[in-house]
Amino acid sequence: MTTHPDSPALSLPPELHAVLDAALDCVVAMGADGRVVLFNAAAQRTFGYTAEQAVGADMAELLVPPSLRARHRDGVARHLAGGAPAVLDRRIEITGLRADGSEFPVELTVTRLRGAEPVLFVAYLRDITDRKLAEAELKASRIRIVEAADAARRRIERDLHDGAQQRLVMLALQLRIARGRVGDGDESAALLDEALAELDGATAELRELARGIHPAVLTEGGLHPALRALAARSAVPVVLQEVPDARFAASVEATAYFVVAEALTNVARHACAERATVVVREEAGALVVEVRDDGCGGAAGAGGTGLRGLDDRLAALGGRLSMQSPSGEGTTIRAEIPCAS
Ligand SMILES: Nc1ncnc2c1ncn2[C@@H]1O[C@H](COP(=O)(O)OP(=O)(O)OP(=O)(O)O)[C@@H](O)[C@H]1O
Ligand SMILES: [Mg+2]
Repeated sequence: MTTHPDSPALSLPPELHAVLDAALDCVVAMGADGRVVLFNAAAQRTFGYTAEQAVGADMAELLVPPSLRARHRDGVARHLAGGAPAVLDRRIEITGLRADGSEFPVELTVTRLRGAEPVLFVAYLRDITDRKLAEAELKASRIRIVEAADAARRRIERDLHDGAQQRLVMLALQLRIARGRVGDGDESAALLDEALAELDGATAELRELARGIHPAVLTEGGLHPALRALAARSAVPVVLQEVPDARFAASVEATAYFVVAEALTNVARHACAERATVVVREEAGALVVEVRDDGCGGAAGAGGTGLRGLDDRLAALGGRLSMQSPSGEGTTIRAEIPCAS
């Protein structure tokens, strides 16, 4: 590392400079006056300044985007005046400024060298543009997977409804006409009655299967009627305390619905509860879904795939699922689903 002879460069043994220049991370040191005193090779590659250009320059002017400069300077001044350090010695994510004017995400730790006179702050920085891009891509692809799966479920439900279900309904109609033409005493009458009962059972089973795949009422009417239908079918009495009438994105509605469906199934299967309460409300950009029961509690959250599947679905949408289940005090499942409405 070479520096301008007049610059306030930190005087270090050449081996130490070589060590710092070999580091993959940017190492930038600054004095109490805010001027750069050390700018290693990684910092030069990342920010696009030579050491000669950087050393002696005002650090905030050089590397901090204009919108963050005042905050940076205030922080340094407060610290030097004896205030509690806000950013020292912990990892933070912030925006850096390159020589070409472009801004980029960095992770950073800043430390104040103990006992160093004059005061010396050393920052270790890493360009995390690639990581941020990869995270954004991963998030987008997880959302696409959830949405594609939901769309496929809606399609299967539609196909069942418009195809097989309709044909069964027509078949029942024909059988009823045939039955009407056969006298009660005829031996075919009993066979036709049996066939009709069997057909009714099959139709009900198919309807139930289609509803489990994706309830048409959710697509058509939204959460309120869909949850009402779910509550009406629940083996444990359910109070729908609060559910918005508003419509949300299909993936948000489907997630809220599946949370309630799984939670109510769990209440019926595991909780020995007398009743369950469902609350859905919009809170600070998220649709919050809560299902409480007054059952045995003590759920460990492990064992099955129901809650894990919900957890994955929520993570894909940038939301979260939590469960409180103190032994003997019932269980509360809470899902927060980001919604942009
Ligand atoms: N409301 C509840 N009350 C008591 N225990 C519960 C409740 N909900 C979940 N649990 C416990 O948490 C476990 C995990 O639930 P999860 O839904 O993930 O799996 P599961 O219901 O056992 O199986 P499935 O994969 O069919 O959903 C359950 O096995 C049960 O022990
Ligand atoms: Mg379950």
